[in-house]
Amino acid sequence: MANTSIFKLVLVLTLVLMISVSESIPISFGKGTQGAAALACNTVVGAEGGDTCSSIAQLFGLSLKEFLKINPNINCTVVFVGQWLCIAA
Ligand SMILES: *[C@@H]1O[C@H](CO)[C@@H](O)[C@H](O)[C@H]1NC(C)=O
Repeated sequence: MANTSIFKLVLVLTLVLMISVSESIPISFGKGTQGAAALACNTVVGAEGGDTCSSIAQLFGLSLKEFLKINPNINCTVVFVGQWLCIAA
């Protein structure tokens, strides 16, 4: 009986480990395959209320085009307060 519960515990722990490992793999693969230069961000700022892509770009002396280049995954329709934005790469 004791062996059975230990086996179950090991099984559960193995499962948890496998889930956490498998979830971290796509993240590291994603960073590796999509041009590292574009995603390596040197400076980030948190968006504040009323910020838009162009207002933030302007604030840090970037053109909107440059700003979008270093923020490839941004959706300018939904810039939310506290969102991390790259302003130097
Ligand atoms: C940005 O978000 C809006 C609102 O959720 C959505 O309608 C739009 O399709 C999104 N654009 C992109 C490029 O994901």
